[in-house]
Amino acid sequence: MHPFEFKIMTTGLIMTVALFLAGCQALNPKPDTSLYQQLGERKGIADVVEDLLYLIVEDKRINQQFKGMDVVQFHRNLTDQLCELSGGPCTYTGRDMRELHAAMAITDTQLNALAENLILAMEDNDIPISAQNRLIKQLLPLYPDIRNL
Ligand code: HEM
Repeated sequence: MHPFEFKIMTTGLIMTVALFLAGCQALNPKPDTSLYQQLGERKGIADVVEDLLYLIVEDKRINQQFKGMDVVQFHRNLTDQLCELSGGPCTYTGRDMRELHAAMAITDTQLNALAENLILAMEDNDIPISAQNRLIKQLLPLYPDIRNL
């Protein structure tokens, strides 16, 4: 084989491999972890959830609903949920959102109160507004389950 022919063959092979790898990357893009980073990773999210808990206890619009709950479990599960929703390496292992909230007959006012407290907790932890909005956007699809609509 002429050395030039050999070169063309290897170049072709390299190009085929490169195209294949590019195709794999397109099919399996890296997860977007920028929101997770902006929230301060799992530790930052855990701090926000802790402050959220203090605000819930103080908030007369919703604190009755939370009476007697397992605080440690709530803290762990909500932290994992927000971590996963923000693109972090966590898996939510808590109860099904619809089943869990179904019997609570949660009103729009109560849902708004919780969202407001979550925003306040993020503000207290210096989370940038852009990240606050992005997290709230990730939570929107859960609202029908929580409101039992
Ligand atoms: C953005 C809205 C909400 C989200 C993402 C959310 C998420 C969660 C999560 C992850 C848990 C823990 C699940 C587990 O431990 O298995 C939980 C528990 C709970 N949620 Fe929600 N929730 C929301 C809104 C609300 C609202 C508005 C209320 C009532 C006013 C509420 C009442 C409760 C109660 C009482 C528990 C604890 C139940 C128990 O441990 O017995 N949630 N929620």
